[in-house]
Amino acid sequence: MSFFSDMFGKKSQAHSALGIDVGSSSLKVVQLRKERGAVVLETYGELALGPYGGVEVGQATDLPADVIAKTLTDLLREANVTTKDCGVSIPSARSLLTFVTLPRRDSPEEQKTIIELEARKYIPVPVSEVQLDWFTLPPSTAAEEESATPPATVDVLLVAVHNNEIQLLNEVVRQSGLAATFFEIEIFSTIRSVVDEPVKPVMVIDVGAASTKAYVVERGVVVLSHSIPHGGQDVTRAVATSSGIDIAHAEHAKKEKGFSDGEGEARVTATETTFSIIFEEAKRVLFQFEHEHHRSVSVIVLTGGGGVTKGLGEYAQKFFSIETRVADPFAKTQAPAFIRPVLKEIGPEFSVAVGVALRKLEEFG
Ligand SMILES: Nc1ncnc2c1ncn2[C@@H]1O[C@H](COP(=O)(O)OP(=O)(O)OP(=O)(O)O)[C@@H](O)[C@H]1O
Ligand SMILES: [Mg+2]
Repeated sequence: MSFFSDMFGKKSQAHSALGIDVGSSSLKVVQLRKERGAVVLETYGELALGPYGGVEVGQATDLPADVIAKTLTDLLREANVTTKDCGVSIPSARSLLTFVTLPRRDSPEEQKTIIELEARKYIPVPVSEVQLDWFTLPPSTAAEEESATPPATVDVLLVAVHNNEIQLLNEVVRQSGLAATFFEIEIFSTIRSVVDEPVKPVMVIDVGAASTKAYVVERGVVVLSHSIPHGGQDVTRAVATSSGIDIAHAEHAKKEKGFSDGEGEARVTATETTFSIIFEEAKRVLFQFEHEHHRSVSVIVLTGGGGVTKGLGEYAQKFFSIETRVADPFAKTQAPAFIRPVLKEIGPEFSVAVGVALRKLEEFG
């Protein structure tokens, strides 16, 4: 957890925007302000949920709204957050992203009707129980794209979020005394903060606590997404078992050293084995994209708390043989130079919160 808002002095807070990321293992907040066209970082902070849910720091939780709200209230105070104007991310684990191919219609009204009717087939609960959204995707092959006649079908990304999840987040916001204008699936927040490639396909790998989200983004649009049921907590558990230490010590050792060598050989092997399982599954998603779309992924972006792991960028680069970079969402913000190295290091943890805050800022114009 970190906070440094005092270093910026107490400026006018008229248009500060708050981004909130309710992760399974920790809450993150980022407060931004626009000044003469530039985005200024006002404060940021993180608080682990584990201790509020009877598990160690870094492990995943599934907490009720009042406990999350209490933690968030503590975090807002500790991080000196000064605005109530926020947006909140929705965990991808609590949402359903489905890619479907449907008949194309010229009229947007007809297209909408088709999509809504078809959605019923793909969503495992009654449509009345979810909030439904969709995006039409760019043509999947270059040939289709160049063809003069539009294809007979259209690829659509259906996005469904259960009403219970929206209710939970609304409750968290209300009990924390905040005012949220939107909830956004975390993938879209991350894309805003860390994916800049205008055309080239990019694979984002968000290593969270319990799960890893791997998705391909092309021209700013998600074209394939997959959730892998392993994450940072599994690295910690593997380190604990292999080194014969408890979870708290393993978590500490992992954060301190990551892939770097030293006395703890067993730790490095355990870390590598867990990441190889995660990356093997991500590679399958990558191959699936390349097979279906006849284009190669040009860059891999590592994000999420697991993305902070020392030496992970180098390991991933070797594993995938594709250019790999570690997410640096704070690069989009202005901050004092002396804090830069810290922001660069912890950046991947805050990709979602920065992305949400950036969208909130856009609302102010
Ligand atoms: N410096 C670090 N080195 C290695 N792992 C780290 C480091 N910092 C955090 N992590 C790990 O990152 C994981 C948490 O990542 P993150 O904060 O992105 O998860 P989350 O958003 O709470 O979970 P999810 O996205 O799955 O809901 C934890 O397992 C934690 O141990
Ligand atoms: Mg997360």
